[in-house]
Amino acid sequence: MSASVNGNGADPVASRSLLSVRDLRLGVGGEDSGFEPVVGATLRADRGEVVGVVGESGSGKSLTMRAIAGLLPPGVELRGGAIDVDGIDVATASKAQLRKLHGEKVGMIFQEPMTALNPTMRIGTQIAEAARAHHDVSRAEAKRRAIELLGRMGFADPENRYRLYPHELSGGMRQRVVIAIALAGEPGLLLCDEPTTALDATVTMRVLDLLVGLASEFDIGVIIVTHDLGVAARICDRIVVMYAGRMVEEGPAGEVLRRPRHPYTLALLRAVPTRDSTIQDLRAIPGSPPRPGDDLPGCPFAPRCEFAEPACLGPVEVTAVGDGRMTACRRHEVLAGMVSARG
Ligand SMILES: Nc1ncnc2c1ncn2[C@@H]1O[C@H](COP(=O)(O)OP(=O)(O)OP(=O)(O)O)[C@@H](O)[C@H]1O
Ligand SMILES: [Mg+2]
Repeated sequence: MSASVNGNGADPVASRSLLSVRDLRLGVGGEDSGFEPVVGATLRADRGEVVGVVGESGSGKSLTMRAIAGLLPPGVELRGGAIDVDGIDVATASKAQLRKLHGEKVGMIFQEPMTALNPTMRIGTQIAEAARAHHDVSRAEAKRRAIELLGRMGFADPENRYRLYPHELSGGMRQRVVIAIALAGEPGLLLCDEPTTALDATVTMRVLDLLVGLASEFDIGVIIVTHDLGVAARICDRIVVMYAGRMVEEGPAGEVLRRPRHPYTLALLRAVPTRDSTIQDLRAIPGSPPRPGDDLPGCPFAPRCEFAEPACLGPVEVTAVGDGRMTACRRHEVLAGMVSARG
């Protein structure tokens, strides 16, 4: 594949920033009667970096990804905040800009991989058509690019594999085809929503290593949504922790996982210890996450939090705590003292 795969003509001295999401609010069912499944998602991604988004089921990870791609499901609306993808303001984008966003700026791998493939069409043709949808190239050139992408995805003999149908491939190979389709428009940002859920452990690691390789080789930003902190620890440069539709903590992956600055991150780590973590005891998180629509004026984690004090029921502010880290916990210093004393 040519070095132009990121295709955005990036000036090497220009900003490395690719994505900025600030205080994103998404609503369902009208301002008065509905609820807000996302009420304060803030995240960013730079070129060449792999960002992990972690959090329990229902925390708003997938909706946040769909909002970035300008592909919110029917009935879910953008109510506030700002999304900037490589200079495009997604909230106010024109139809022409949104067309540019899909595929050319942002490639997306959805949580349900099989729905991304057409079972009746050869895999190579599906990749070539994705390339032609975004770039004015001949059929022959699109085919050449598709074969190149298949090779890049680790397919031996890509000229012949080009002709296979999805059902002739293993789950891991199918997911590689899905990634190739997402890359065919040469996007600068690749959003991967639980890209390995259906794969076994060995194939998962191969697919994840492939994504990390793409980020550095083609200088694209990769965001990976995952439940698995072990995965996040292994492949991510930075981690964003979401809880109840909010960003609660963000920072360099090693720091966040070794020295969490939000009790929810600590609770996640205790529930699923990682090899790199210094926190060894395995405990379930007490209580349950808030339901969408619950009225939560203060910290949404406070009812489950062992560090909570009465002030935690008041307004929450996201605070910078050094080393490029942010936390939404007002008790983060207490937590930092406790974690470093243990570690
Ligand atoms: N299409 C939709 N219409 C209405 N509400 C939705 C829709 N999709 C999601 N929601 C609501 O938004 C909440 C967050 O959903 P989202 O899919 O973003 O969670 P998630 O963090 O990706 O969870 P999971 O880890 O299970 O994939 C859900 O609990 C649900 O209440
Ligand atoms: Mg999801």
